[in-house]
Amino acid sequence: MDGSRRSLGLPAAAAAVALAWCLLVMVLSGVFIVPASATHEIFPELQCVSVLNVKKVHRTGFHFQPPKHWINDPNGPMVYKGIYHLFYQYNPKGAVWGNIVWAHSVSRDLVNWKTLEPAIYPSKPFDIRGCWSGSATILPDGRPVILYTGLDKDAVQMQNYAIPSDMNDPYLRRWSKPDDNPLIYPSKDVNASAFRDPSTAWFSGGHWKTVIGSRHHHRGIVYMYRSKDFKHWNRVKHPFHTVPNTGNFECPDFFPVLKAGQNGIDTSAVGENVRHVLKVSLDETRYEYYTIGTYNPDKDKYVPDGSLEDGWGGLRLDYGNFYASKTFYDSGKGRRILWGWANESDSQANDTTKGWAGVQVRTWKSYDFFSQVDDAFLSYCRRCTFCQTIPRTMWLDSGGKQLVHWPVQEIETLRGNKVELQNVELKRGEHVEVKGITAAQADVEVVFAFSDLSRAEHFDPRWGPAHRICAQKSANSPGGLGPFGLMTLATVDFHEYTPVFFRIFKADNNKHIILLCSDARNSSHAGDLYKPAFGGFVNVDISHGKLSLRTLIDNSVVESFGAGGRTCITSRVYPEKATYDNARLFAFNHGSSPITVEKLSAWSMKNADRNIGGTI
Ligand SMILES: *[C@@H]1O[C@H](CO)[C@@H](O)[C@H](O)[C@H]1NC(C)=O
Ligand SMILES: *[C@@H]1O[C@H](CO)[C@@H](O)[C@H](O)[C@H]1NC(C)=O
Ligand SMILES: *[C@@H]1O[C@H](CO)[C@@H](O)[C@H](O)[C@H]1NC(C)=O
Ligand SMILES: *[C@@H]1O[C@H](CO)[C@@H](O)[C@H](O)[C@H]1NC(C)=O
Repeated sequence: MDGSRRSLGLPAAAAAVALAWCLLVMVLSGVFIVPASATHEIFPELQCVSVLNVKKVHRTGFHFQPPKHWINDPNGPMVYKGIYHLFYQYNPKGAVWGNIVWAHSVSRDLVNWKTLEPAIYPSKPFDIRGCWSGSATILPDGRPVILYTGLDKDAVQMQNYAIPSDMNDPYLRRWSKPDDNPLIYPSKDVNASAFRDPSTAWFSGGHWKTVIGSRHHHRGIVYMYRSKDFKHWNRVKHPFHTVPNTGNFECPDFFPVLKAGQNGIDTSAVGENVRHVLKVSLDETRYEYYTIGTYNPDKDKYVPDGSLEDGWGGLRLDYGNFYASKTFYDSGKGRRILWGWANESDSQANDTTKGWAGVQVRTWKSYDFFSQVDDAFLSYCRRCTFCQTIPRTMWLDSGGKQLVHWPVQEIETLRGNKVELQNVELKRGEHVEVKGITAAQADVEVVFAFSDLSRAEHFDPRWGPAHRICAQKSANSPGGLGPFGLMTLATVDFHEYTPVFFRIFKADNNKHIILLCSDARNSSHAGDLYKPAFGGFVNVDISHGKLSLRTLIDNSVVESFGAGGRTCITSRVYPEKATYDNARLFAFNHGSSPITVEKLSAWSMKNADRNIGGTI
């Protein structure tokens, strides 16, 4: 890693900040009472239905998961003294959204995780109705501080901070929430029901800065707040970013990327060698999009590059089940790492009829959350298959027009038995099975080669967005150049399968358009599960006649990285027959143009310690 490029001098600020930090004496005066309502759907009758004694079939083997119950946004990822921390929105009581706390796990390698007690949970007037998402900032003296959204008894959303109670505990098990919270209370012109998810703060021009998601009617807004001492925050007059007709912005993430190379850089970095990225999560569609642009730290203005769509059709970090993502700078390894929530969608009613036993209903109050941890180890549930995606290293593509991500290299430590295929030609309608690995839990890297681009079908711009094309032209619909790719989690008779595949088109301007699809529609035939066809275009040069694909298959997750991580798609699937040893993996081609599996390497993947036990 190139250490010289991640330099960023904060020492001048350090002393002032450290001093202010020690003076934790200021108590905000007054109690704010403003009626407002939370937006999250609440199922009071279900949120405390504890889960006991149910099937493990769709549990993942190496994706981050809690032992049971509901999980949503990853929160406050950070590295502190060589230990990675991941907090996440968690319901310790049940498998639907509710009773949200900041659950806490630690790891030395981003792969094996150990659960600690929840770090932050409702206990004070400024968060008594919820401890929602937020981020960690490492202060110049090395101490972490968490900014998070708390809801008071009237469900007003406000920004609070928490600090470790014992800096000598390497696991930072206990966190305290000083009484001078909240740090940021919504002023009258801010929507107090949509004011949340503070980002990691950065330091520039003598100020700490953080961005917070919001809305005004249907306009998405990212507000920026500034502080000299991390304690007294003022809103910058202009919205940091705002876009009409997007709906609420959640989980804004704002960070620099280096113009060249794959290294990451500290969140406070500015200057000639960086571009900036603003990502928002769209509450209404549960999609995210980002722009790359220019940040002026003096004026605190962010201007997205004009060529990029700034709205619903914008670039996405992942075109599948992926939401509420958050990055952090891994200072030890000089890389920026992305976490996302692989959400799923099944009806709440379905969830309670499937696999639950041992109903335990309580009304909402401030629990003794620590007593829940032992209970959490007792059982697994079938439908508590919410998880986080594999942490990904992220950087700016060499053309500067999009981000690229790739599973952290540590995940490769789980690779077991390996098989390879080389130079296997697949004519129209042919497939080849990849035998000798655990196909339900595998890591697959493949390079497809094609010599003849002439059979690429004509592209019609009226077809609409990528996912719509994937829904119309399935893996079985014959094409010219493609569809070709992988059939994952397949039964031997192809009754169930989740194909991940490319199709190459030719547009009127003679340019090639490459589509990557991940189609869950035949992944199982159970009831009314959410099984969409996802798709994204791939911006890559194919003049050398090659396309690569990596797919991490993990029982109920199919997480794919097209063209070296330029287009990523995560699908959640629930096969009934293609499970464990009954799952198969194939490479296939349903295009008329022959393609060659130039090289395919596949590995069985071992289980990681996923919060179930173990030590770090
Ligand atoms: C404020 O946010 C709430 C929750 O998202 C929404 O229902 C309401 O319409 C918003 N009000 C305005 C004025 O934007
Ligand atoms: C998950 O995301 C999809 C869109 O990708 C959305 O339709 C669905 O409502 C989301 N489910 C949950 C539980 O957030
Ligand atoms: C699903 O499988 C059926 C039966 O094999 C097939 O007719 C259909 O085309 C498949 N759909 C997709 C989207 O692959
Ligand atoms: C989900 O519930 C619907 C009825 O609401 C039912 O038809 C369907 O089979 C259920 N799905 C599963 C997987 O249990």
